[in-house]
Amino acid sequence: MLYSAREGGVLDAKRRAAARALDFVDQGMVVGLGTGSTASLVLHGLAERIAAGLRIVGVPTSRQTEDLARRLGIPLTTLDDAPELDLAIDGADEIDPAGQLIKGLGGALWREKIVARASARFVVVADESKLVPRLGTRAPLPVEIAAFGARATVRQIERLGGEATLRLHDGRSFITDGGNLIADCRGLPLDEPRSIDEALRALPGVVETGLFLDLRPVLVIGTAESARVIAATPRSVG
Ligand code: A5P
Repeated sequence: MLYSAREGGVLDAKRRAAARALDFVDQGMVVGLGTGSTASLVLHGLAERIAAGLRIVGVPTSRQTEDLARRLGIPLTTLDDAPELDLAIDGADEIDPAGQLIKGLGGALWREKIVARASARFVVVADESKLVPRLGTRAPLPVEIAAFGARATVRQIERLGGEATLRLHDGRSFITDGGNLIADCRGLPLDEPRSIDEALRALPGVVETGLFLDLRPVLVIGTAESARVIAATPRSVG
C-alpha cells in the first residue's frame, strides 16, 4: 500500500483544497505559484485548465515549482517583468484563527513571502490539519539565515527563546534557492507573533522568517468531505 488511510485522507483533502482554489483564477491573470505538495496539486489543475483554453502566466516561488510548471506547460514570467500579481496561491504549515501563518517547511519562504506581498490576493490552500489554535503548535518556525556566521545567528535566535537547529538535507546543510540556510526554531514565544518576527528580523544574519503575518489570506481548507473557503477582504499590494 502506497499510503496509509490517514495519509490518503490528507492527500484527498489537499486535492479538494487545490481544486477549489482554481475558482479564484481568471482569464489573463498573473498568478504566483506556491511551493509544496498542495501547491503542486494546484499547478496540475492549472495545467489542465490551460490545456482547455485558460490564459494565465505564473511566477514561481522556487526552482522546484519552476521546474514543475515548465514540465506541465504553464507559461512563466518573473516578478521583474510582472511586479504586481493578481493572485498568489500557496500552501501553509500552520494557520491560526486570525489567519496568521507559518510557512517554509519546504524551504522556499523568502521567495514565497516576496511573491505573496506582491499579490493583490493571497489564497492559501491546505488540509484541515494545518489549522492550529496558536502558531508553533505542530511545526517549527523556519527562519532563513545567511550562511556567513550561521552559528552566531543561531545563538542570537536562541537568546530570544527555545532551540534553533540548522536544517540538513541528505546529511549536508540545506541550501535555499537564495543560497542561504534554514534554522528550524522550536520554543520561541509565538504568542505575540509580530513582536518575535520583529526581534528575529532585527538580527543581522536573519534574511527572512516563516511568519506570514497580516497578509489577510483567503483560506481554502480541504477536509475529508469538501473544501471550505474562509474569505478575507482584498488588500493593497505592498
Ligand atoms: C514551502 O516552503 C512551504 O511554505 C509550503 O508552502 C508548506 O510547507 C506547505 O507544504 P505542503 O502543502 O506540502 O504541506
